[in-house]
Amino acid sequence: MTLATSDFDYIRHAVQRESAIVLEPGKEYLVESRLAPLARQIGAESISGLVGRLQRGEPRLLDKVVDAMTTNETSFFRDNYPFDMLRTKVLPELVAQSANRHIDVWCGASSSGQEPYTIAMVMQEVLPSSFTSSLLATDISEEMLFRTREGRYSQLEVNRGLPVTMLVKHFDKVGTDWQVKPALRSTVKTRAVNLSQPFPVLGAFDVVFLRNVLIYFNPPTKAAVLQRVRQVLRPGGYLFLGGAESTLTIDDAWERVVHDRATAYRPRG
Ligand SMILES: C[S@@+](CC[C@H](N)C(=O)[O-])C[C@H]1O[C@@H](n2cnc3c(N)ncnc32)[C@H](O)[C@@H]1O
Repeated sequence: MTLATSDFDYIRHAVQRESAIVLEPGKEYLVESRLAPLARQIGAESISGLVGRLQRGEPRLLDKVVDAMTTNETSFFRDNYPFDMLRTKVLPELVAQSANRHIDVWCGASSSGQEPYTIAMVMQEVLPSSFTSSLLATDISEEMLFRTREGRYSQLEVNRGLPVTMLVKHFDKVGTDWQVKPALRSTVKTRAVNLSQPFPVLGAFDVVFLRNVLIYFNPPTKAAVLQRVRQVLRPGGYLFLGGAESTLTIDDAWERVVHDRATAYRPRG
């Protein structure tokens, strides 16, 4: 399937309107490789056919296109350092300061669940038994949220970053895959949240993970998302971003907190 410029333009504008994901000219190959399987799956003869159906407003087709265009790359304990900081600084500090013995964590853009389950494992390790907690995992992709609820991962996926001790403790072998045990799975709640839109009522959080997603947005969207995150973060709370992301030059209402080799952010003042 080859992609006409007009089809590429239609798709990149539609995807950006819906999800804020920016597809610059030059990304035609990406759109083509991601949408050709979807076109086949829905019985369209070409990507042009798919675009025609999008233009006619076929229900839910734009969601599928956005889903196909998201990059879901993730792994357990991705980059390690943020989770060391969570374990050795952030959670102990929040525990010491907590008046009501409760911690709320939000993992936005949680992809297939490796990141929220990593957080859940660390929380279980660190939080005293007298504490309660909540852990919300959100993504724009329903397919990724379904995978998160299932908590089922291939050998290859668990080999990427998950220490064997944690695999044995928190996972059951299911056929050739590994599934998060029900006890840990029940601590992660999922919800569809599009970061590029005003947030639905989510509550307030002590820690927010929003890693490796701002990179797909343009500067005004990054700033708007960071501003919305500030409104749901409790005073004294922490924000973790991806290794290639920063609040610097985007939203100066944040201060950097460096701990060993990890960086987190807190609202100033
Ligand atoms: C590269 S993954 C990052 C996963 C995980 N946070 C990590 O760092 O390993 C990016 C995720 O962002 C999600 N995403 C992209 N645009 C989004 C949006 N507008 N709102 C919410 N999630 C979005 C994608 O569906 C994908 O799961």
